[in-house]
Amino acid sequence: MAKIIYPDGSQITELSEIQNTLRQIDITLSHWELPAGDSEKTLLEQISLNDDEKETLLEAVEHRFEELKSSQGYVTRDMIVLNENIPGLDEMLAKFSSIHYHTDDEVRYILDGKGYFGFVDKKEKQFMVEVTAGDYINVPANAEHWFILGESKRIKAVRYFIDTTGWTPVYTDRPLAFNLENTPH
Ligand code: LAC
Ligand code: NI
Repeated sequence: MAKIIYPDGSQITELSEIQNTLRQIDITLSHWELPAGDSEKTLLEQISLNDDEKETLLEAVEHRFEELKSSQGYVTRDMIVLNENIPGLDEMLAKFSSIHYHTDDEVRYILDGKGYFGFVDKKEKQFMVEVTAGDYINVPANAEHWFILGESKRIKAVRYFIDTTGWTPVYTDRPLAFNLENTPH
């Protein structure tokens, strides 16, 4: 279940309060039950997944996205599976740990593991949202954010895209208000 963390260490843990805080900057957060079949549970526990296994999980959660696909025009989807064995993991993550935006919405449904999205609110105050299994987050196009993985270095997340050609971070050069070394994650 998601929680919000501020640079001074204070937190918000109540879902509706987290949702209200995020809504002020047009971010949607939901919490959805994970697929509970035995075969899906086994796949969710594996460290890595082949393409067929990813497809099985994508199909199991597809119904969550029917309305979003027609209202928002999401056309492609995939599953990102990160773990400590992936070569170049740190270099890949380094691209996302500085403040950036995209020209497409960033749509993520976390199926396993843990990560942190950072945001800048209307008063330019920064905060992080811890996302774990079952959390769905939609960061609108052009919204400043950053992302770091939890200490376990593992995550499985469904991603939906309107246009994959635009999937590059645009850096805003805004400094982070967090010292990531000292922030619990
Ligand atoms: C991304 C995230 C991780 O851009 O911010 O994919
Ligand atoms: Ni991003």
